[in-house]
Amino acid sequence: MTPAFEVRDLSVHYDGACALAGVSLDMPALAISVVLGPSGCGKSSFLLALNRLSETIPGCRTTGRIRLFGHPLEGYTGGENELRRRVAMIFQHPVVFPLSIRRNLAIPIIEHFGHARSEIEARMETALRDVGLWEEVKDRLDAPATALSGGQQQRLCLARALALEPHALLLDEPTSALDPFAAGHVEALLRDLRSRLSLVLVTHNLAQARRLADEVALFWVRDGCGFLCESAPADRFFAAPQSDVARSYLAGRMG
Ligand SMILES: Nc1ncnc2c1ncn2[C@@H]1O[C@H](COP(=O)(O)OP(=O)(O)OP(=O)(O)O)[C@@H](O)[C@H]1O
Ligand SMILES: [Mg+2]
Repeated sequence: MTPAFEVRDLSVHYDGACALAGVSLDMPALAISVVLGPSGCGKSSFLLALNRLSETIPGCRTTGRIRLFGHPLEGYTGGENELRRRVAMIFQHPVVFPLSIRRNLAIPIIEHFGHARSEIEARMETALRDVGLWEEVKDRLDAPATALSGGQQQRLCLARALALEPHALLLDEPTSALDPFAAGHVEALLRDLRSRLSLVLVTHNLAQARRLADEVALFWVRDGCGFLCESAPADRFFAAPQSDVARSYLAGRMG
């Protein structure tokens, strides 16, 4: 199967300072690829490059090549908005609009699919059911989204992304701001989504990585610049890491 992402010699600089250099990596479709590594090794910068959000950051410059399901990212047909719908990003802190739960979903659905009211309602319900939120919010769709708990807000963000039928999800520490119960809920959801989506998950939580990863990439920092230290299928990475850095990291001695 064509990989979801084929990354070749990717480098990211901010105002000329290196954040990440020379990353080449394939991430398979319909799988969870987990990115690990210490703070500042370029994990978020890597994710941002995968749907070209990095282009929106002042001073950020990326070089190298990325193919998405076999197609070059630079010439993505439909432009950046279409790309970011197909390759959606979920951040550590849920970013809900300060509007009702309903409007949080309706606005992007209308923008992408038009105005048929029955279709909007149906897509909204499906997306909320997808993330296990429907029963919790169906009677208060007009309440402010900001009144939801952190875990519910994160699931609303996931629902908003899913409503637009993405092919891939980029998740930057999506559970690190949540309590263990809410985090478990999101984890279960990610595990289910793997059958229909390609996921790239940045996490600092090794136990979570062990539970979820199909593939692992370990980034590290050398002379202030991040690089890919090791990548492998998860079983192999956890059972038989190849590098001293990976062995130390897994043993909790570094990073
Ligand atoms: N907007 C920015 N402007 C300038 N430098 C940045 C910017 N974003 C990131 N950097 C720098 O790029 C490097 C990599 O940062 P990045 O956020 O990608 O690391 P990270 O692995 O995600 O770290 P963390 O685990 O703390 O989230 C760091 O040195 C950081 O200071
Ligand atoms: Mg980060």
